[in-house]
Amino acid sequence: MTSHSEKIIILDFGSQTTQLIARRIREQKVYSEIHPYTLPLDELKAMHPTGIILSGGPASVYDEDAPISDPQIFEMGVPVLGICYGAQLMMVQNGGRVEKAEKREFGKADLTIDYTAGLFAGMETAPSHYQVWMSHGDRIEDLAPGFTVTATSDHSPYAALRHKEKPFVAVQFHPEVAHTLIGNDVLRNFIFGVCGCKPEWTMHSFIDATVKEIQDKVGKEKVICALSGGVDSSVVAALIHKAIGDQLTCIYVNNGLMRSGESESILNFFNQKTSLQLIDVNAESFFLEKLHGISDPEEKRKRIGFGFIEIFEQEAKKLGDVKFLAQGTLYPDVIESVVFRGKAPIKSHHNVGGLPERMHLDLIEPLRELFKDEVRELGLELGLPEQAIYRQPFPGPGLGIRIMGEVTEERLHVLRQADVIVLEEIRNAGWYRKVWQSFAVLLPIQTVGVMGDGRTYEHVIALRCVDSIDAMTADWSRLPYDILGRISNRIINEVRGVNRVVYDISSKPPATIEWE
Ligand code: XMP
Repeated sequence: MTSHSEKIIILDFGSQTTQLIARRIREQKVYSEIHPYTLPLDELKAMHPTGIILSGGPASVYDEDAPISDPQIFEMGVPVLGICYGAQLMMVQNGGRVEKAEKREFGKADLTIDYTAGLFAGMETAPSHYQVWMSHGDRIEDLAPGFTVTATSDHSPYAALRHKEKPFVAVQFHPEVAHTLIGNDVLRNFIFGVCGCKPEWTMHSFIDATVKEIQDKVGKEKVICALSGGVDSSVVAALIHKAIGDQLTCIYVNNGLMRSGESESILNFFNQKTSLQLIDVNAESFFLEKLHGISDPEEKRKRIGFGFIEIFEQEAKKLGDVKFLAQGTLYPDVIESVVFRGKAPIKSHHNVGGLPERMHLDLIEPLRELFKDEVRELGLELGLPEQAIYRQPFPGPGLGIRIMGEVTEERLHVLRQADVIVLEEIRNAGWYRKVWQSFAVLLPIQTVGVMGDGRTYEHVIALRCVDSIDAMTADWSRLPYDILGRISNRIINEVRGVNRVVYDISSKPPATIEWE
């Protein structure tokens, strides 16, 4: 883990918005990390936090199995901010009392401020009031000794609190959500005012620290990295290359299932603009053979996944003694959350699953601390082309899971042409970065049409275009009719063998983003 001189540690009590707290703080150029509330006190102390935040959470502090962090946190001499559940826990652990409220307070509330320093520095007392977002069923009844009220709302006489001598502050509302209009100011006042942080965590400082860390870890050993053409692996490659140059070799496996021109821009960048050691393996026919006669979606995914591992392993072995495998794991995959996230996989998404164990490689994951938007910022700072950085997500099994039924060269050709048109039109209309993903799917049916005087019986293309924040849920994009019309016209006119285009208007759940 990178050593940051100043950091805010967030203890997670299971709120849906805990990740947002970390993001808001990082946006202020202060480093912040999330840990489960069960983090042992000695580990917390060893991190030398500049400030601690106790997040919100769905439990009641007086539940028998309520999540409780170590009360010694308040003896560390470090500033603490309690948010919602965290505020109630702060009260209870310091001798106050929390009860079930008669009325649950949920949604927007008007906050009246009584104290214009601390969390509310720069704001005004009544008659001014400020919109905040509340979501709690319990409320603080008795303040813990030493605490006093700094703001109230209609239903919360103790909407915000501070300790009179110690650096402990609390808010019943959620400063991290956009509906709390003063949320950023409150968090800023905490990190800069109460904790005394300086805004020094930038991508530039991240690169300096991480480069040094990679150099220390790798020494003179060799590292390999699977370059996919996607944002994460490209940024990992660029970052590690900056740190250790020739000791890194990247392997790009062309599985023949990429979009037209999809990986070229990134390969060109690395080949032309850097001295990165890049092995470009053309395995198109290998994969097509593996997929011959296979229509079952899971079977296709497995064959593509195992095929990749086979090729990658073969190439890696040629390099001799390799010690490390670099991977683009991001922070949301790492956070040990107290919220139950480990649901059974609906589709197998493991692109390189099992590789490190099989090949006895140690992992290097330099993006483990970053959110996706931070990875993009890092990529730009490392000089990667903007087009590669703002590329929409693309699944590991590629067009293999966008062709329903068997994958053949002929069907790949049809889909690629349709897909190019979709992307061109979406880009030209200025929608490429507005939507999460936009792509074409080739259906396994043919339908009747007319062309000139003749009857046709040809392929159907489905257009899939979704809005999403994290791919966990998604809704179909409300594309203007004229864009839809243009895409349909062009596909039917320009792609031989297609006579019908349909638009997918399903949300996730219950549908998924990809069709297989
Ligand atoms: P679904 O179809 O499950 O997709 O709603 C959610 C997101 O994941 C992408 N996806 C994959 N990404 N390997 C990947 O790296 C895969 O096997 C895979 N399958 C789906 C999909 O494009 C969407 O962004």
